[in-house]
Amino acid sequence: MKVLRFANPEEATKAAFDIVSKRLEAGLKTIGLATGSTPLKLYEKLRNTNIDVSQVTTVNLDEYVGLEPADPQSYNYYMNEELFKYMNFAATYVPNGVAEDLEKECERYEGFLRNHPVDLQILGMGPNGHIGFNEPGTSFDSVTHIAELTPSTRDANKRFFDKEEEVPTRAITMGISSIMGAKEIMMLAFGEGKAEAVRTMIDAPVTVDCPATVLQNHSNAIVILDEAAASKLQRNK
Ligand code: GLP
Repeated sequence: MKVLRFANPEEATKAAFDIVSKRLEAGLKTIGLATGSTPLKLYEKLRNTNIDVSQVTTVNLDEYVGLEPADPQSYNYYMNEELFKYMNFAATYVPNGVAEDLEKECERYEGFLRNHPVDLQILGMGPNGHIGFNEPGTSFDSVTHIAELTPSTRDANKRFFDKEEEVPTRAITMGISSIMGAKEIMMLAFGEGKAEAVRTMIDAPVTVDCPATVLQNHSNAIVILDEAAASKLQRNK
């Protein structure tokens, strides 16, 4: 796992953007995308480029169960607003959180992933170390599935909703095995709220109790941090 530390989120985002744009220009076929506040500036930079993405397919990590794609809190909506409406991707895949048969939707999504192996997966992390919506305790063998969100995740994400009761209790998420199938992974974590999970991800043993530790097992993972997120790391790493 390669760890890059930057003074602030702006510099960290610039480094992430440089990597993503280089891969896109080199002919990457499929990019895995994340939501949340962390990659917002990265998406802003990307949508302001003229990079030709007409041959590029995108796959997203997750979607809340029960939110229509037109719902402003859905990840479908987020992706359309932040990226898709500005860029001419060949195809964009985000799970359908209102599918009639959610199990079938998970299988369908895992099928997309098999047909479109991810070249570069952009990842964020929850304060509890979750990746996608793979909460602590999720098997490393998991593929796309329905996840029950922990109270701490619902609490962390309630800032995007009017009322706490509106935060969905479940989500469709790529599994940990699906995520680890990417040829390259780029994890972004900014801010003090992530510092403890970042320390565990990098300095502690690999454990399902902190899903992000699985990245230690990936042969091509890069972690991009700002100083606040890196503040609890052992200095010699
Ligand atoms: C959600 C998403 C994750 C994301 C996390 C962090 O829980 N499912 O994929 O990494 O939020 O969000 P933020 O970047 O806002 O801290």
